[in-house]
Amino acid sequence: MVSRVRTIAFQGIETVPVDVQVMIAPGKVGMNIVGLGDKAVAESRERVQAALHASGLSMPPKKVTVNLAPADLPKEGSHYDLPIALGLMAALGAIPSDALDDYVVLGELALDGTIAPVSGVLPAAIGANGAGRGLICPAACGSEAAWAGAEIDILAPRSLISMANHFRGTQVLARPEPMVDPQPADLLDLADIKGQESAKRALEVAAAGGHNLLMIGPPGSGKSMLAQRLPSILPPLAAKELLEVSMIASIAGELAGGKLSDRRPFRNPHHSASMAAMVGGGLRARPGEVSLAHNGVLFLDELPEFQPAVLDSLRQPVENGESVIARANHRVSYPARIQLVAAMNPCRCGMAGEPGHRCARGPRCQADYQGRISGPLLDRIDLRIEVPAVTAADLIAPGRAEASETVWARVAAARGLQSARYAALGLPSFTTNAHCGAAMIERIAAPDAAGAALLRDASEKLNLSARAYHRVLKVARTLADLDGCENVGRIHLAEAISYRIAGERMAAAA
Ligand SMILES: Nc1ncnc2c1ncn2[C@@H]1O[C@H](COP(=O)(O)OP(=O)(O)OP(=O)(O)O)[C@@H](O)[C@H]1O
Ligand SMILES: [Mg+2]
Repeated sequence: MVSRVRTIAFQGIETVPVDVQVMIAPGKVGMNIVGLGDKAVAESRERVQAALHASGLSMPPKKVTVNLAPADLPKEGSHYDLPIALGLMAALGAIPSDALDDYVVLGELALDGTIAPVSGVLPAAIGANGAGRGLICPAACGSEAAWAGAEIDILAPRSLISMANHFRGTQVLARPEPMVDPQPADLLDLADIKGQESAKRALEVAAAGGHNLLMIGPPGSGKSMLAQRLPSILPPLAAKELLEVSMIASIAGELAGGKLSDRRPFRNPHHSASMAAMVGGGLRARPGEVSLAHNGVLFLDELPEFQPAVLDSLRQPVENGESVIARANHRVSYPARIQLVAAMNPCRCGMAGEPGHRCARGPRCQADYQGRISGPLLDRIDLRIEVPAVTAADLIAPGRAEASETVWARVAAARGLQSARYAALGLPSFTTNAHCGAAMIERIAAPDAAGAALLRDASEKLNLSARAYHRVLKVARTLADLDGCENVGRIHLAEAISYRIAGERMAAAA
């Protein structure tokens, strides 16, 4: 007799149905798993046998064959333990044979028969719900699965015994509740930063429009401090964004306690990060930092210290909002719509351009250091600002600067205008100006006559690329939104162009 259990394989954040078929037949005693499984799937045999034994079920002295269909789809991960064990229990008559018909099953087994958490439960639950089925998952992941919808049937047992008791009706499992991770009360506040008014303004503009930002300045001027305070002025995730972000975190196994949070991701990988860590890949084609920062911020501190190849691998995700991992036999893509924020010193000694300072290695110090960042990556950064050393007067001045709460309100208002505009244009997938398409931005950020003349002059003088031209328009649109203006004026364009100039100087130096 063959018993069947439905489970899934992951391809990015998509799920592909997999059928676990278990057959017990006369023959050589033993258990075999076939169907292109990886090492974790092969080892599942030992865990399943031990867990069944610990739950009081002994393996029959027969030949047990487990087939994972479709046979040509690679199966990776430990989540096949539970469907295999439940399939065996059904074949042995320990649970009713039709009990599993309406469920998708995933979970890892411990040797004592308890069910251990696995990654990817949220996308699995969303996939199961879409197919009109329920989900059986580990107890620790139940609240994560409950986010897939109010109507989906979820069973989150702690062990194989509690699963069997549920089907027998002796101990019915309750449906888990979705849980929220509350916003931390101790977010760092912008009020701690003295002086640096223009840098704070640029940070506010970046937050309002979702623009990429590069801060260049000497050591100790507050660049890292500014970036770390960006989360305190970003609006919370909208419901749809929250699900996307959480699905990626779920696949990466980073949803602590199965709780979802409406905080925007803020990832700051160390500069020793490899390409696989940054854009995804490695074992099981895991999402990289760029995808974990989806709908949030990817902060690269000490930008030139990253390997140039790793930085250039960001070019495609930053432009397209998606990170594609090509494997020999398949291709996986993860969403990666990020806001890139970076900080760097102008040269290796860090002091180039500071009044009264001369680099020991002369102009080469700056050129060599800045040359590590390729022009195309720089071209994708809308706001480039210089963050000079804080003056003594600013440091000593009494009183606190403007608090994050006040800036947050202005950012939220500007973001509200943007989402209303894109919804009215029938483009609800755009939420910020930074991610608006080129044709659309020309329409919605058409400057007045004076602005158009300024833009023409600046484009010629600065030799702006077509991308740079559109990015200036996007920043100008955000500046107008922050002012609550319907039209983009000369003043907005002037400020937007000024944000590109630092970078053009840098490119010239390199
Ligand atoms: N504008 C500022 N207001 C108050 N404190 C500041 C400011 N700038 C720097 N500091 C102080 O200097 C310390 C270092 O700042 P931060 O790490 O942000 O510098 P940085 O610009 O990132 O330097 P580096 O280039 O070396 O990374 C902070 O912890 C803070 O104590
Ligand atoms: Mg720093």
